[in-house]
This record gives sequence, C-alpha cells and structure tokens, in this order.
Amino acid sequence: MTSPAVRDRWRERRAGRGRACADEPSRSDSPDLFDPAPYGMGLTARRVLRLWREQRRLSLVGFAYAFVYSALSLIIPVLVARAIDRAIVTHREPLAPLLILIVVLALARGGVNFLRRYATSRVGIEIEARVRELLYAAYLRFPRAFYDRQPTGQVLSRATNDLYPIRYFIGWGMVQAIQSAMLIVGTGVLLVITNADLALWSALPMPAVAYFAWRFGRRVAPISRAVQARKGDLTDAANEAVVGIEMVQAFGREEIIQDRFTDRATAIRDEMVRQAKVEATFLPPVFYLPSLSVAVVLLLGGRAVINGSLTYGQLALFIQLLLQIVWPLEAMGLILDLGQRALASAGRAFAWLEQIPLLPEVSPDRAASLPADAPVAVSFDDVHFAYPGGAEVLRGVGLRVEPDEIVAVCGRTGSGKSTLLSLLARYYDPTGGTVRLAGIDARALPLSQLRGAVGLVTQRPVLFSETLRANLLAGRPDADDAAIADALELAGVAKFVASLPNGLDTVIGERGVNLSGGQRQRVALARALLTDAPVLILDDPLSAVDTELEREIVAGLRDGLRGRAVLLATQRLSTLALADRVAVLEDGRVVEEGVPEGLIDQDGPFAGLFGEDAVVGAA
Ligand SMILES: Nc1ncnc2c1ncn2[C@@H]1O[C@H](COP(=O)(O)OP(=O)(O)OP(=O)(O)O)[C@@H](O)[C@H]1O
Ligand SMILES: [Mg+2]
Repeated sequence: MTSPAVRDRWRERRAGRGRACADEPSRSDSPDLFDPAPYGMGLTARRVLRLWREQRRLSLVGFAYAFVYSALSLIIPVLVARAIDRAIVTHREPLAPLLILIVVLALARGGVNFLRRYATSRVGIEIEARVRELLYAAYLRFPRAFYDRQPTGQVLSRATNDLYPIRYFIGWGMVQAIQSAMLIVGTGVLLVITNADLALWSALPMPAVAYFAWRFGRRVAPISRAVQARKGDLTDAANEAVVGIEMVQAFGREEIIQDRFTDRATAIRDEMVRQAKVEATFLPPVFYLPSLSVAVVLLLGGRAVINGSLTYGQLALFIQLLLQIVWPLEAMGLILDLGQRALASAGRAFAWLEQIPLLPEVSPDRAASLPADAPVAVSFDDVHFAYPGGAEVLRGVGLRVEPDEIVAVCGRTGSGKSTLLSLLARYYDPTGGTVRLAGIDARALPLSQLRGAVGLVTQRPVLFSETLRANLLAGRPDADDAAIADALELAGVAKFVASLPNGLDTVIGERGVNLSGGQRQRVALARALLTDAPVLILDDPLSAVDTELEREIVAGLRDGLRGRAVLLATQRLSTLALADRVAVLEDGRVVEEGVPEGLIDQDGPFAGLFGEDAVVGAA
C-alpha cells in the first residue's frame, strides 16, 4: 500500500513544487537554476509527441499492423463458429477449406504480430536513443556549476535507467493501448450482433474488470515512480564508493558506505514489495472476473442452445472472444501505469534539457573576434564572483597580463586563485565586472574561439583514456613529432615518455598505464604548451613535482612560455621564479603586486606568505 508520505511527495511533484526526492536534505529555498522541477504531464506529452513525429512513418506502420492483428483476432473466432455450425453440427459446408483458412489466418496473425512488435519496438528504441542523445549532448554543454550541483549518480541514471519507461511505453504501451481498444470495441460489437441479450449479461463483470485495472494503474504508478527516483540515489551511493574506494578502504568506511547503500537498496526493495502487494490485490480480479463472464455464458448460453435460440457455434464464439479480451483489459491498467512512468521520466529529462542554462553562446552576427595570430593581453576589471548559493569569493579583482608576460597569482589556500583562473575561459561567468582578452569582453567571443585561445592546466589535471599522443594532440591536432618532443622536453616529461615501452603510443588512464600525479601534471603541461593558444592558464602546474625537477623545468619553461600571456597560480616559491610579476590575492582582491624580489623585502602580504621560505631558500 502507498504510504501517506509517498503519496504526498508525488502529489507535491505533480503540482510541480516537489524536489527530486523528499528525503534529500533541502539545499536551498531559492529557486534553483541547476535543479529545475520536472515537467508536468501535459508539457512532457507535447515534447514526446514531437519526438514521436520524427518516427511517424514507422509508427503508422505499427498501427496498421495492430489494426490487421485486431481484425484477424476477430475474424478467426467467427470462422471457428461457422465451422462448428455449418461443417460439424450440420454438413452444409465441407470442413477442410474452412480449417485451412483458419490455420492460414492464424499463421498470418502470428506474422503480423511479429511485424507489429518489431515496428513499434523500433520506434520506442529510436525515441529513447534520441532523448539520451539530446541529454548527453546537453551534458557536454552544461556549465560546471551544473556538475557542482548535481550528484554524478543522478546525472548518469537520468540518461540511462531513467529512460527505459519511455521505450517501454512508446515501444509497447501506445500501440498496445490502441490495439486493446480496437479488440475490446470489436468484440463488443460482434457479441451484440450475435446475441444482444447474452452479450449484455456476459458484459456484467467487465466494468469491474476495468475498475480494478484502473485502480491498479492508479495505485502502482506513484510507487513505480518512487522506485525510479530512488534508483538515482542508489547509483549515487554506488558511484561514491567506487570512485572513492581508496579512501573508503583507508578510513575503514566500508561499513558506513555499505549501510548507506543498503538503506537505499532497502528503500527500493520496500517500494517494490509494496508494488507486489498492489499487484497481488488488483491483478487476480482482473484475471479471473472474465472467467465469471464465461460462466455466465455457459449458464445462460447453454440454456439458449438447449432451447434452440443460440447455435453451438455462437456459444463457442462467445467463449473465444471473452477469453481473448482478458489480456487487453489487463493491459489497459498496465499501460496507464507505464504511461505515467514514461511521462515522469521524460518530464525529468526534458526539464534538464530545457531549463538548465547552457553557457550563453553569442549569436554569430554579434560575436567579436580575437585578432588572428596576434598576441593577446588579458585583463580582469573589478571582477566579482560567487559560486551559486555561496558567498562572494572574488570581490573586485583588478589584474592585467600583457601579451608577453608571466603573472603569478598567489595567496592562501582557498583565497580564490583557481576560481579567478576559471573565469578566464568562462568555466564560470563573473557575477560582476569584466574579463577581457585583447580588450574584448570574454562574453562577446564565441566559446569555441575563446577556449581555443586559452591553453589550460588545471589543478587536478585530467587526461583522456587514450594514447599519450592523442592526449597531447587534443589541443593541436596538426602538431608534428618534433613539436611534441619540444613540448615534452619543456614540461620535463620527455625522459619518462621515452622510458615507456610504447612511447607516445602508450594508452594511459583507466584502460591503460596509470601515471603518477607528477607525471600526469607534466603531460598536461606539455599538452597545454603544444597548443598555439596565445593565453595559458597554469593552475599550480608543478605542485606534484619534486623540487629538483621543478627547478630544472622552471629554468627551461621561462623561455618556452615567451610570447604568450601566462596566468599562473601557485603556492610554491620555486614555481614563482617563472613569473615576471606577482599578484597576491587576499579577501577576494589583489592586495599587492610587483616583482617577487621586490615584494619579499617589503613587510607586505607577499612577505607574509613566503618570507620564511625565502630565507630558507636563500640560505
Ligand atoms: N565548485 C565550487 N562550488 C562552490 N564553492 C567553491 C567551488 N570551488 C571552490 N569553491 C570555494 O571558493 C573558494 C576559493 O576556492 P579556490 O579553489 O578558488 O581556491 P584556491 O585559491 O585555488 O585554493 P588552493 O590554493 O587550495 O588551490 C573556496 O572557499 C572554496 O570553498
Ligand atoms: Mg586552487
């Protein structure tokens, strides 16, 4: 049975006020840009219909088969009745031709059924694939803030598990509903034509069947939707454990994680048990009430046969047809449930597809363009930034990097260095002020051009699970081996690559060789150096490299970086040696700027950060 809590949650959801799951801690009461409420039935149905139209031809073929199938299902019992009356009971017609016709039509019905299933399943599969494709394409264009907000498990399950009901409903439910309706109506008409009285009597239990089927659909729909929603939570729990397995084991958190997983799995199990109960309550009547019709027909029809007002064939027709509509009647209940489930999952998918703001692309006619092959200066003008729902991290940063200058941003951990750097390639947009490249507002540049102009080494660099070569070429596909070798040399990773048995063709990452943190960092650095981007962002690019190697790399890199505007974030004095100028970030502002050598002698924030280190370094 449905618990009041579940019912309330779904009522709330239907009204469009609900959250993904009511037991989640409520995160914020402000309307949440990156967690929009799922679409309601009407809105979703219109969108599904639009996708369905793309498959119109195949769908119509499916409907046509459904029609033929229903017609054959009605014709065959009529022929059987005729065979009984005219060839078996009386001998007015030979039996063989009728028998052959019946067998042929039965075979044809089997064939048509196959074709219908094939056609409609295809439609379902195509539409499911289409929604998944749209969603995945959107995932690739969603801003980082979306991923900050949505747990990975939800993101994954919404594009996988969550979409199955759409396929089942469109691939099976829709046509089955129409076919069932045709069969039920056709059966009714045939029975009334044959014997209106008997038809009425035998129809007596049918409203009850329909009622139970309908009640079943109503009861089971919210439960199965709850199951669906909880599957995302389960994927989440599993995902967390798998991704963090090292820490889980290191801190002996297996039990806690296991408990969390079990809790969520149990929640799903409980809902499923509830579903089984509803099924056990409502499905048997749906199944057995039609047998009551058969009993009525045997009793009343049998008497009619005995007193001669009904033929044997007609009696057989009644029984055949009544047994034949048990399934369509039951299917109606299932389809109601399935339809609601499909609309619910499509509603979630479409809400994401349409409501999550993509990084706004500038329209081509209004887009500015960076000067081709020219150096680019970078400037931050009074830049403010807060993460969605968070306090201001940057509060009026002013900073300029000349086209041929290396500027290092330093500051305490958490001071906003990475944040500042991520604004440059528009992974986030500033909440106030302007970021400019070559004097042009970054928001006026087409995203592809902007990202092409900015080479990037993130603080925790990610390499693709491909060959080293493919990784290095990601930013500049036409680079030749000599250029690759130079980049590897500059990044201090040439020796390591040479030591690999397959060299540049070694597959790395999840499907290949695992690199150490420092190796990964240097490959990422080489990848950024290889691009001909006029602007480079290096977020603590050598933090995982030992000091000696770092010193070597820094020595070579200073020249290697010439000709570009480089913005570097670092915590380490040794990496600071790269910089022409240093800016100190504190309280969301640049509080000090100058050449490192000059700053260290002043009693300012920079000296506060590095003073002791510098003394040690000098000693
Ligand atoms: N994705 C995010 N969502 C919300 N807040 C964030 C996010 N990333 C960072 N923050 C917050 O913004 C502040 C600045 O973080 P940032 O990563 O920019 O610091 P940082 O100077 O790069 O630190 P570190 O030296 O440790 O790399 C921190 O208080 C952090 O908690
Ligand atoms: Mg950082």
